Amino acid sequence: MTRILVTGGAGYVGSHTTLHLLRAGHEVLSYDNYANSSSEVLRRVAELAGRAPEIVEGDVCDRKTLDAVMARFDPEAVIHFAGLKAVGQSVKKPLSYYWNNVTGTQNLLESMQEHGCRRIVFSSSATVYGEARYLPIDEDHPIAPTNPYGRTKAFVEGIIGDWCHAWPEASAVLLRYFNPVGADASGRIGEDPNGTPENLVPYIARVAANRLEKLGVFGDDYDTRDGTGERDYIHVSDLAEAHLSALTYACRSSGCEAINVGTGRGATVFEMLKAFEATIGREIPYEVLPRRSGDVARSLAAVQRAESLLGWRAHHDIADMCASTWHWQSCNPDGYGA
Ligand code: NAD
Ligand code: UD1
Repeated sequence: MTRILVTGGAGYVGSHTTLHLLRAGHEVLSYDNYANSSSEVLRRVAELAGRAPEIVEGDVCDRKTLDAVMARFDPEAVIHFAGLKAVGQSVKKPLSYYWNNVTGTQNLLESMQEHGCRRIVFSSSATVYGEARYLPIDEDHPIAPTNPYGRTKAFVEGIIGDWCHAWPEASAVLLRYFNPVGADASGRIGEDPNGTPENLVPYIARVAANRLEKLGVFGDDYDTRDGTGERDYIHVSDLAEAHLSALTYACRSSGCEAINVGTGRGATVFEMLKAFEATIGREIPYEVLPRRSGDVARSLAAVQRAESLLGWRAHHDIADMCASTWHWQSCNPDGYGA
């Protein structure tokens, strides 16, 4: 059993990972300021796991509260999810993104070091690669983010790398997620975006639930199988398991390693739409719109490093991703708000 401090434990990926950590017997403390989540999530996680995480409401930018938690809980490792993640909003409010994501992480690392905690698993993103120069994208692909959110992830990767270099006993895994989707099989926890979803799968789910009229397909003239954008969608339960494997890896190694988390297989917008229609047994209305600015044609992960270093690979296919999304959406039409 290991004591794990999970920042952002009430968020979408953090809550699924907390559930898997509890089920695997770890002691977990969730540290979250609920900027983009609700404490109801952790109540449900406790119900599913049959045991509760410790819960502290706090901000990673608040050093005093963080230090108090570090001193009392004395974590053996940190999984760091806390941060802001909306690309469009990061263009409008860049300083808020640098403060929460970069300053917040610096604070966390300082507090960890002061309390002798030397292992971290960090939520990075495939967005650090920017436009793919070749496919599949391996971890040696150039880092060239195209928006403030992506730059916060790239800066934090650099800071964590420097921290490990300066503290040879430290170990860090930078998990570069591709496109996380889906929900826990129970239908009790899932993704609950504020307002109108910007990402494909939550948007399709809202149309399927008759809460939005139709899906807008952003371009059908890309150089792909059917002209629509292709992405590497990864089931959030597989992603949660990747964090457990990364934790094990960080406990027996030192240094800083960046690792892609994807399936290595892509689905286009039309393929995802068809898969969702197969799940619900009826057609989902859509219209083709112009391309969304900043979008790329294809994004696909090279997954060899995850397999060789972590011994982890994804198991769920897009049918599972659609079925679990729909189960969550139909059991919780108002998300956690109900
Ligand atoms: P989320 O918004 O659901 O979860 C983030 C959690 O962190 C929320 O509960 C929020 O309240 C909390 N938080 C935000 N700022 C905080 C702060 N300053 N102090 C304490 N808590 C704070 O997002 P998610 O989808 O679960 O993503 C988790 C992490 O993974 C993020 O760092 C995100 O950038 C990264 N990521 C997500 C995706 C994705 O598509 N979901 C893809 C790549 C990377
Ligand atoms: C987005 C983020 C990226 C983040 C990723 C994680 C942007 C520019 N990028 O990537 O930083 O890491 O989510 O999930 O926001 N699509 C439609 N109609 C819609 C929504 C999307 O056709 O209403 C298409 C897009 O054009 C794209 C695909 O669906 O081809 C996936 O889009 P989305 O879910 O937003 O993810 P990404 O853009 O890949």
